[in-house]
Amino acid sequence: MPPDRPPAGARPLRLGVMASGEGSNFEALVAACQRGQLAATVCQLVVNNPCCGAEQRALRLGVPCTVHDHRSYSSREALDQALIASFQAADVELVVMAGWMRIVTQALIDAYSERLINIHPSLLPSFRGAKAIEQALAAGVQLSGCTAHLVSLEVDTGPILVQAAVPVLEADTVESLAARIHAQEHRILPLAVRRAAERLGLT
Ligand code: GAR
Repeated sequence: MPPDRPPAGARPLRLGVMASGEGSNFEALVAACQRGQLAATVCQLVVNNPCCGAEQRALRLGVPCTVHDHRSYSSREALDQALIASFQAADVELVVMAGWMRIVTQALIDAYSERLINIHPSLLPSFRGAKAIEQALAAGVQLSGCTAHLVSLEVDTGPILVQAAVPVLEADTVESLAARIHAQEHRILPLAVRRAAERLGLT
């Protein structure tokens, strides 16, 4: 650490966020920082889908956003190397996958070892992978929820930081259950960031 850098805890934690879609979790993190619930600042968003909702939100919120369209990279690893370069250029200390719909490689996990968080719309280890909400409805579970966890190589695995459960109602559709889960995701994601930072002594 350079000598002129204040000690951890004396300055806001520098967060990077990865998003592919709407970006409501990204905005929830920015809001948690703004209201002082999280001693952090979201200093870099990366998106893989040009013009996605997350990019629009970043423009409105004044958060720097870089587009790394996965279709322009020759491999998953090449994409991840570009993400790492963006985060390193922004001095990012901890990265949150907030609706990142690409499989990540060991390169990203190693670059942010113990500092890479994912949010997933199920009570892991149930319903890993894509369409977790559809899977839960098809299985007929009465409880579902969301999980924030540190990222390991296998998709949607890794040490769990925070979970929240929600009821599944008989009349639920994908949309109604997703809305109930989203509300909980927005609540637990800042808690998960704080827990991960505490584990590392960053706060
Ligand atoms: C969230 O529900 C998140 O859990 C999910 O994508 C949604 C993004 O919403 N992520 C995954 O399914 C990853 N496996 P948002 O763009 O509004 O934050």
